[in-house]
Amino acid sequence: MAKGYSFRICKGQFGKRGGHLKFIHYFFITVFCISLLALLFIDVIELWVTSLGMSKAIGPHGVVIPHSIPPIRSEEYLFMPSIHVCQRAKPYLIILVATAPQNRKARQAIRDTWGGEIQVRGHRVMTLFIVGQPFDPVIGKELIEESKERGDLIQGRFMDSYGNLTLKTLSMLGWARRFCPQAHYLAKVDDDVLFNPSALLQYLNLSFKTEENDLTELYLGRVQMKVEPNHNPASKHFMSENAYNDTFFPDYCSGTAYVLSQAALLKLSLAADAILLPRPLPPEDVFIGICAKRAGITPTHSPLFSGGPAVPYSRCCYQMMVSVHHTKPGDMVHYWKEVHSTAPCSWLGMRTSFGVCKIRALLGTLLGTDS
Ligand SMILES: *[C@@H]1O[C@H](CO)[C@@H](O)[C@H](O)[C@H]1NC(C)=O
Ligand SMILES: *[C@@H]1O[C@H](CO)[C@@H](O)[C@H](O)[C@H]1NC(C)=O
Ligand SMILES: *[C@@H]1O[C@H](CO)[C@@H](O)[C@H](O)[C@H]1NC(C)=O
Repeated sequence: MAKGYSFRICKGQFGKRGGHLKFIHYFFITVFCISLLALLFIDVIELWVTSLGMSKAIGPHGVVIPHSIPPIRSEEYLFMPSIHVCQRAKPYLIILVATAPQNRKARQAIRDTWGGEIQVRGHRVMTLFIVGQPFDPVIGKELIEESKERGDLIQGRFMDSYGNLTLKTLSMLGWARRFCPQAHYLAKVDDDVLFNPSALLQYLNLSFKTEENDLTELYLGRVQMKVEPNHNPASKHFMSENAYNDTFFPDYCSGTAYVLSQAALLKLSLAADAILLPRPLPPEDVFIGICAKRAGITPTHSPLFSGGPAVPYSRCCYQMMVSVHHTKPGDMVHYWKEVHSTAPCSWLGMRTSFGVCKIRALLGTLLGTDS
């Protein structure tokens, strides 16, 4: 539709005037048409540019899946929903939200919005939260109350701090491997992300048409390329050269939101068990990237994941995005209502809006107005 439309503008202008004027005329029309197409298909351009930058090297297929998979001990979890929660709910997609104990408001906003979705595009979806142990005993008590009341919290056996985020992710992988092997896909999402299960399921449906998609090792998100390890001990992302001595980290998906297929989860979790954890711990998303490389799994980039840059709000753009980072609890409830209780945007509206908000996000990053 849009293609036909722009084509008409582009074609209708072949005119009668000659010489330079005609040339300039054509020139501007061509530039206009190219810009319009670029705006409408910005995701295709982003995919292409990313594919140029991505490392082609595939890691060794070092993980052999053993006949009996080592069990994860339930004692690793201080509290969690019933161990039968996945047997009962049979989720196709399980979303595990990494949240800090004190972020109760963020959890509630998620429950009131996308976390409350249980049936999406004909598939069952389940959202649970994963936390560590709080340093403050008062918050610890509140957390137990919240867990009893809501039944959607998992607590791992580690102190919850920024420096321990990798332990949270390991705890999450272990939990999903042990208690939710039914789920076809696992999404790891941060608690300040506006997630869109419907957009994700649509993407998975369109991208993986084959029946054997359960066997595909998918590691999907916003791919970060050629990130250098930080060897400055003062940084909170410090990593010693003994722990990691390559020039760049392997390509990895931004930790704000990424998706693993069942097969990828298993291999990655086994690879993680085999890696000796350096101290201080590497950032969780980098660590997952390292494990994926060990397991011989390459990340897949999707322009629908916002990763770092904040994406300015617009209704149609948010209908298309799978994840939007830096969303405050109040905004989440507000945006969700507007995005999901109003009519779906048209193809053209969605594409234009998506192109515009991608460009605004990019400009925000370039101009440094983004956090
Ligand atoms: C991470 O968790 C471990 C185990 O609970 C704890 O000993 C350690 O102090 C924590 N590290 C940080 C940086 O909080
Ligand atoms: C995609 O969705 C269509 C329509 O709902 C469904 O028939 C088809 O089986 C789905 N494909 C996959 C791979 O999920
Ligand atoms: C990096 O570390 C590995 C294993 O620890 C070692 O085999 C290799 O020689 C090191 N490379 C450099 C450039 O130091």
